[in-house]
Amino acid sequence: MKKENNSASVYVCDGCCCGRVEKGHNEVPVDFLKSAWKKKELDKSINLTISNCLGYCSLHNVTLLKDNEKKTWIGKLSSKEHYKAVVDWAENVALDEAKAEMPNVLVPHLFLPTKV
Ligand code: FES
Repeated sequence: MKKENNSASVYVCDGCCCGRVEKGHNEVPVDFLKSAWKKKELDKSINLTISNCLGYCSLHNVTLLKDNEKKTWIGKLSSKEHYKAVVDWAENVALDEAKAEMPNVLVPHLFLPTKV
């Protein structure tokens, strides 16, 4: 059963670099994300924000996954598969935040902001 207290948030950057095709970066599938959030009713438990620059443009495309415990940064998202995995992660968190696992496809994209 999904929680309904919005304890987690996902910030998907679609700012000055992330998603800017004219700068050679991959498009951020904003419509896909919004539609998946609605279809899977993730909006009841996880906030989705399509954000401006998150400060790590060199790792375009960046997404921040924030829950009660921590902030998880992922970068260099280059395919719809990556964004589908973000939706999967959000579903996992919605079901059980404590046991939510990061989809394997996103693990190589994790980064620590202090080391960028
Ligand atoms: S535009 Fe996405 S981190 Fe700067």
